[in-house]
Amino acid sequence: MRSVIDELPGSKIREVANAGIGRDDVLAFWFGESDEPTPDFIRQAAVASLAGGETFYSHNLGLPELRDALARYTSALHPTLTVERIAVTSSGVSSLMIAMQALAGRADEVVAVVPVWPNLTAQPAILGATVTRVSLKVRDGAWTLDLDALLAAVTDRSRVLLINAPNNPTGWTLTRDEQRAILAHCRRTGTWIIADEVYERIYFEPDSAAAPSFLDIADPQDRLVVVQSFSKSFLMTGWRLGWLVLPETLTPAVGKLIEFNTSCAPVFVQRAGLAALAQADAFVPGLVRRLKQCRDLLIPQLRALPGVQVATPRGGMYAFFRVEGQDDSLAYARQLVASSGLGLAPGAAFGDEAEGWLRWCFASQDPARLSLGVQRLRRAIEAARL
Ligand SMILES: Cc1ncc(COP(=O)(O)O)c(C=O)c1O
Repeated sequence: MRSVIDELPGSKIREVANAGIGRDDVLAFWFGESDEPTPDFIRQAAVASLAGGETFYSHNLGLPELRDALARYTSALHPTLTVERIAVTSSGVSSLMIAMQALAGRADEVVAVVPVWPNLTAQPAILGATVTRVSLKVRDGAWTLDLDALLAAVTDRSRVLLINAPNNPTGWTLTRDEQRAILAHCRRTGTWIIADEVYERIYFEPDSAAAPSFLDIADPQDRLVVVQSFSKSFLMTGWRLGWLVLPETLTPAVGKLIEFNTSCAPVFVQRAGLAALAQADAFVPGLVRRLKQCRDLLIPQLRALPGVQVATPRGGMYAFFRVEGQDDSLAYARQLVASSGLGLAPGAAFGDEAEGWLRWCFASQDPARLSLGVQRLRRAIEAARL
């Protein structure tokens, strides 16, 4: 076994979840997914595909009609792009891995904005790259970017800048000005940007169909790879379908990498993706409205608890907060499961920078569950203060 694999930390979210396995009294908000199943019109498209015998391999880069639909979908949100820039993958996490395999190898430097979903930083480590972490900073309770620190960390020795916004777990989003400064800097240093924008639609600012994207400001030839997924915007976490937006020159290499990773996404899953995109305008805004209701219910209730510090996230599906006096997030999350039946993700799962914080996924069909969870947290906080 390569030592780098041995040294990878296990998932601390799983560690907490395992402590609650077999207990149906636990309110679980630890994983990054809604408790609502995939819409029926999407499921039916997969059923029809299987019934029609679509059980074979497809092109490495995806069904031509799905690539076309993705080019149209992306062009409706951002400047027009060509279908040659699209590659279909078997999930957002596979998109991330393939992008990293294409761009960074042994001893290459990858700069990552953290805290972040741990898969992003584990992947370059698996490939033997070194990861330089640049931490977001807490200002007035909200996680914000120290742009000067980030620009100082990205040098002409940096192969890749890895940046996830809207961010899991903090809810931090990039501003247009920050994006411009980062893109201009990376053009100077020759650094690739891998932008994980899987939460771009889960964005709550008025009159915005999507969070600011690097696609809005970059040229087609820029060293920019955008990572995307069907998981969050279409409630399709279990389907494992994603895509990449690439400079055209990178697409053939990515096709080769897909061959050696998964060969292709399953055709019936791609058909489900096509159905999702066909109804995107009818479905996604409603989902975002419901998620905003969840956010607007949970955050004020959390903020009203004694000793709780929480900012309102502009995007994503997470409340990221801390409870005064609770500095060991893994121990506290385990304790909340064991004694209060409340399942949260420990901040430490996203890096040392987030120690002492907790992540609460608020994507729920039943907002009353969120209030019930808050009651449990209140009781736990009050009991600890006695
Ligand atoms: C920031 C981020 N990127 C990528 C993913 C991957 O999503 P999936 O592999 O389900 O498409 C997730 C999932 O939680 C995520 O939070």
